[in-house]
Amino acid sequence: MGEIVLSGIRPTGPLHLGNYMGAVTNFVKMQENNRCYFFVADYHSLTTHPLAEHLQENIKQVLSEYLAAGIDPNKSTLYIQSDLPETAELYLYLNMNAYIGELERTTTYKDKKSKQPTNINAGLLTYPTLMAADILIHRATKVPVGKDQEQHLEMTRTFGNRFNRMYNYDLFPEATAYNFGEELVKIPGLDGSGKMGKSEGVDNCLYLSDSPEALKKKIMKALTDSGPTQMNQEKPVYIENLFTILNAVGTNDTVQYFEDQWNNCTIRYGDFKKQIFEDVNAFLTPIRERIHDIRSNDEYLGKVAKQGAEQARESASATMKEVRRLIGIKSLF
Ligand code: TRP
Repeated sequence: MGEIVLSGIRPTGPLHLGNYMGAVTNFVKMQENNRCYFFVADYHSLTTHPLAEHLQENIKQVLSEYLAAGIDPNKSTLYIQSDLPETAELYLYLNMNAYIGELERTTTYKDKKSKQPTNINAGLLTYPTLMAADILIHRATKVPVGKDQEQHLEMTRTFGNRFNRMYNYDLFPEATAYNFGEELVKIPGLDGSGKMGKSEGVDNCLYLSDSPEALKKKIMKALTDSGPTQMNQEKPVYIENLFTILNAVGTNDTVQYFEDQWNNCTIRYGDFKKQIFEDVNAFLTPIRERIHDIRSNDEYLGKVAKQGAEQARESASATMKEVRRLIGIKSLF
């Protein structure tokens, strides 16, 4: 049935509108005709948050958000990375054939090195081998990721092919990026700087679980200026961004109404932002309520995680059996 699809997300905070529109809605569609694995990458989060005091809550939050967004645990395998410790074992083996040079050349590693110069740990360096282990352990063929993760995917292919060559056995297929193309909705942040992302600061993000008050406050504070002075003037990027957000959640008529006002210089940003708030809030309210219901049901969450771990283990143990056999790791006595 279709492809083996896999994607992971680090539980370093709650999901925002950009995650939802850009990725999660597409996951929900993909689960209909592919074998999908979605997991919470808690091992990975330790590379930047070694003392993750909110780790447990964050994992539950992200699980609840995935479920609230429509990921169906009976169609997809939804699991927590550390519930599948075979991942760590495969990571160890892959590290034996991952070269320091290629790891040091990884763009994300170089970025992190300058961002956290006092904690350049080996986990950060070997982030790509851990990610390769996630992907290879299920022999996934499609990985929906953003541009910033494409190098990791390329390294996954390198590691997989290297393993196949080394042990002269065609075990790992090549995983390629799944591009949503036209369907990919990119949500910009509120500060005019680029895409919505939690690393850009909390005020830049509209979280799925934000209260209406929080949403309103952030939207009303979004960067604007003193308004257009010429008819049909080109929009500065921070205004264009607000239109993009409205367009993602509002009706075409509403967008057109404010486009016209922009074009004839009558737009009032206060009204414009109020409309954005109302449409964002109407869009997020049912999602927020579902998240809340699921998040407060530990018993259900526990069942989902257990079922996910069992399904993930089934696929992983088949791979690990082959890996151990090829490497020659077996119990001697
Ligand atoms: N590195 C990914 C990110 O930061 C998260 C991730 C971990 C992942 N393992 C993965 C994504 C495997 C896809 C496949 O977004």
